[in-house]
Amino acid sequence: MRLPQPTFHKVGSLKDREFEEFNVIAIPATFGTSAPEISKSPLIDQVLEYCGITREEFKKLFPEFQGKPSEVVRIPVAGHKTLVRILVVGHGDAGREASRKAGAALGRAIKGTGYRVLDTFTFAAKEDALAHIMAVSLSQYGWNLKSQDLSDKKVRAKGATQISFPSQYANEITRASIHVNAVWHTRDLIHTPANIKTPAWLGEQAKKLVRQRKSSALTVTIKSGRALAKFGGLRAVGNSSPTASPRLIEVSYAPIGSKNWPHVVLVGKGITFDTGGLSLKRPYDLMIPMKSDMAGAAAILTATVAMAEIKPQVRVTALLMCAENMISGTAQRPSDVITQYGGTTVEIINTDAEGRLVLADGLAYADLELNPDYLLDVATLTGSASLGLGKQYGAMFSRNTSLSARLHQIGESIGDRVWPMPLVDDYTSALASKVADLNHDASAQDFSAGSVTAALFLEKFVGERTWVHLDIAGPARSDSDSGEVIKGGTGFGPRLLIEWLASLS
Ligand code: BES
Ligand code: MN
Ligand code: ZN
Repeated sequence: MRLPQPTFHKVGSLKDREFEEFNVIAIPATFGTSAPEISKSPLIDQVLEYCGITREEFKKLFPEFQGKPSEVVRIPVAGHKTLVRILVVGHGDAGREASRKAGAALGRAIKGTGYRVLDTFTFAAKEDALAHIMAVSLSQYGWNLKSQDLSDKKVRAKGATQISFPSQYANEITRASIHVNAVWHTRDLIHTPANIKTPAWLGEQAKKLVRQRKSSALTVTIKSGRALAKFGGLRAVGNSSPTASPRLIEVSYAPIGSKNWPHVVLVGKGITFDTGGLSLKRPYDLMIPMKSDMAGAAAILTATVAMAEIKPQVRVTALLMCAENMISGTAQRPSDVITQYGGTTVEIINTDAEGRLVLADGLAYADLELNPDYLLDVATLTGSASLGLGKQYGAMFSRNTSLSARLHQIGESIGDRVWPMPLVDDYTSALASKVADLNHDASAQDFSAGSVTAALFLEKFVGERTWVHLDIAGPARSDSDSGEVIKGGTGFGPRLLIEWLASLS
């Protein structure tokens, strides 16, 4: 069960009396030239007049207030019969990151209250407004399966917070709601535990998300059983589970007349749980977060269905490579040789390097059958990816430097940040095998570059396509509840994908 998702509204000019319809009015304060001060805008002046406080009085009341984007203080409103709370939220230097952080601080202050909120922030750039509006919603996410939690029930009974923004940001409000719907859904899928979230269940969710859009441009087809005969990687990994058999979930956005539009194929790692297989994950604590090993598949799913709302002139096919990596009597063994889609043979060494096996099938299938103009995969692929970059950036691999520069730039703006990493040709020798075309865990030589050699393995399956690989093992999950995210699945990816796809038309 998730907490109620906030709803967005817009307001034009307000009369005095109408302020009383809000439970909370948020006003920004920037660093100013010498000291922090409440920002200037006609709407803010109106609010200050309404609540009977001047900027000077505010400074006296809160001498310690610095205007940092994480700061929130409440002005006591005297002499009013109403229950309006005035929150002053630091807006720092009022740039992109400060706007985002201030949005998250405000969202956290009103999370679970069910309040009607007026957010009077103003911005120098439309992108700052978009970042802010998204953060107000994303920071209010909550998910659990408690049956008895009374505080949660109370929160749900109060309903969704309703946040109003000045109507000058109407376009950003619309865009933000598309993005946050995608991220909220991605998080729901990631938080769902693996005893519920089988590959078949993910297929049902894909159908449900598509049905809800009521768009003839979206379709879902699901391959299972014999239809996966040529998908040797997906079968080798997925058949380890006696109960949750693998699925290839294909979701496409192809409006009438889209035949000659650019075709993007997205491939997502959809491991519903990663035990490591017979090469069991150790220490065992590392296994606990592994229900989130399908975060890449979730991201491409929600981004693709969002196309029905944005309607760009681009054709999108999402391939969700879904399997559970289990330990069982039918699990693959270290030393097995499998045949990937397209015929490449692969020697299995470490069954915990399962992601690249399911992705390789998806990439080869895309290359050989779908004729993509762009091929992009998203995967929680390697622990190494987050060793260098930490948890705030996804590792991006591509030979196409203008495309990776573009994705980097979009990511900085929209909030899903990716950093270019090198495909080091010298490391390819690590993929050599004596018994097959390749070994999959790059163990022929040790270059201590696990995310790079994983990317080089994937590249063997993309033919001549324009290809980008995003290793999101770091940013897909958060260890802490702060800013826009809660502990667990962050919903990293859809915002970047949506903006990029929209920019292709
Ligand atoms: N799902 C993991 C990668 C991962 C690790 C994601 C930590 C998120 C957090 C992947 O399947 C895996 O086990 N990768 C191995 C590869 C190795 C065996 C070559 C890794 O990174 O250790
Ligand atoms: Mn693994
Ligand atoms: Zn994995």
